[in-house]
Amino acid sequence: MAAVNGSSSNIQGVPTHVKSICCIGAGYVGGPTCSVIALKCPHIKVTIVDINPVRIAAWNSDVLPVYEPGLDEVVRECRGRNLFFSTDVDAAIKEADLIFVSVNTPTKTSGVGKGFAADLHYVEASTRRIASVATSSKIIVEKSTVPCRTAASMRTILESNSTFAADGTQISFQILSNPEFLAEGTAIRDLFAPDRVLIGSLDTQQGKAAANALSEVYENWVDRSKVYQTGLWSSELSKLAANALLAQRISSINSLAAICEATGANVDEVAHACGLDGRIGNKFLKASVGFGGSCFQKDILNLVYLSESLGLKEVSDYWHQVIKMNEYSKERFARKVVSTLFNTITFKKIAVLGFAFKKDTGDTREAAAITLCKYFRQERAFIAIYDPKVTTNQIMLDLTEPGVVDDAEAVRKQVRIATSMQDACDDAEAVIICTEWDEFKNASKQEWEAIYKAMKKPSFLFDGRGIVDTKMLREVGFKVHAVGKGPVIVDPVWA
Ligand SMILES: NC(=O)c1ccc[n+]([C@@H]2O[C@H](COP(=O)([O-])OP(=O)(O)OC[C@H]3O[C@@H](n4cnc5c(N)ncnc54)[C@H](O)[C@@H]3O)[C@@H](O)[C@H]2O)c1
Repeated sequence: MAAVNGSSSNIQGVPTHVKSICCIGAGYVGGPTCSVIALKCPHIKVTIVDINPVRIAAWNSDVLPVYEPGLDEVVRECRGRNLFFSTDVDAAIKEADLIFVSVNTPTKTSGVGKGFAADLHYVEASTRRIASVATSSKIIVEKSTVPCRTAASMRTILESNSTFAADGTQISFQILSNPEFLAEGTAIRDLFAPDRVLIGSLDTQQGKAAANALSEVYENWVDRSKVYQTGLWSSELSKLAANALLAQRISSINSLAAICEATGANVDEVAHACGLDGRIGNKFLKASVGFGGSCFQKDILNLVYLSESLGLKEVSDYWHQVIKMNEYSKERFARKVVSTLFNTITFKKIAVLGFAFKKDTGDTREAAAITLCKYFRQERAFIAIYDPKVTTNQIMLDLTEPGVVDDAEAVRKQVRIATSMQDACDDAEAVIICTEWDEFKNASKQEWEAIYKAMKKPSFLFDGRGIVDTKMLREVGFKVHAVGKGPVIVDPVWA
């Protein structure tokens, strides 16, 4: 059979050696993932496309739209060599033998499944685009996190719209699931050395051929033993399951943090003691104000919706509780701030350190800081925010309630973006640490002394990430509250 679009051979229309890749969606996943593929596979042409021209212009500039340690170096080495960023979606689809669909799948905000189900219209639009412009057979790879059996819908769309190639043969599409497990902040490290690469395919000769072709791409730098091939549905469900299990650990330790505060136990000691058990392990047991990020909440809500749609109410309730515990953690922390500041923060200045959902990323989606700042705004506090990587525009956008008239103006009156920790804390009554940036964790005693000096007295510090040395800060003079570390209660029997 004739070669397809530069791929050296094919099995019944499936490209077997990938020469050209298109990635639809130049976001937090598509950008870093396909840049690393370009770096590790100099013989493959990689084109990352997006309908957002501002994002593509940023990828082609010196200031990339995504902050990730190590990403600049990767892009600098490959861009213009075998890595291209473009808004010409159709041209890139036509040229590719393999297409990653890496578009956003946010939680639906209206219609059936509102607040729970994944909004798949970006995935569907990309699939329809592929079907309408492709002139040769292709491997289509779901990179986005999608509910179980989405590949079946993609297949129906592609097959109902497939046409014939110039030589008269029918174009065929093979769909694979290849969920991305990278974590923002460590994306490049995760992509260079993944724990596993999961590839789901149909159990047919063509399905397996497509999975092997994708595996061959990864095997340019990932050991074959780390590539795990499964069925399509297992692969799709495994991504939701992995995020649900990780988030469940955070909600579990946060529920125990509340008990620690009430009893005088120390959550770090409890987490360490539990983590020493090899069956439990020590990862994802750090108590905090709550988890954020674009994935955990969205993917668990997706799982909740999926279970409910399948008539599995108890399963749905079980996973929903992980989200409810996270909401509770954020609210409990915010209430603690107000009650400690003598039950009112009206017209008081609160310094918020960190706005990103975690360190080493500029991503603020579902960040705990957003919930806390909205709570503080309702209590009519003045807020000064400092984050090393999040832009002023992004913070203002996140704090504005869409559709509320004059809200942007109100936010500007109540919120100021500071240029440093010291700048945020000057004249404040309380400091709230929302993100575990190293800059806050590693601040010296002298720096904290200068901050303390410039604050109103008494000066409160609330550590929502458990990163600061509470003993040192108390020596400086702060009144400190850290999640999961209550005051030591002396039992009258022992006193
Ligand atoms: N962010 C993470 O850490 C992470 C990790 C693993 C998986 N995921 C999953 O990966 C997917 C992408 O996430 P993200 O964080 O990169 O999202 P993102 O919003 O940063 O990027 C998605 C991009 O797709 C573009 N897009 C949407 N429709 C398009 C179309 N029809 N044609 C071309 N471009 C289109 C958007 O303009 C946007 O730039 C989601 O399903 C997410 O759940 C995310």
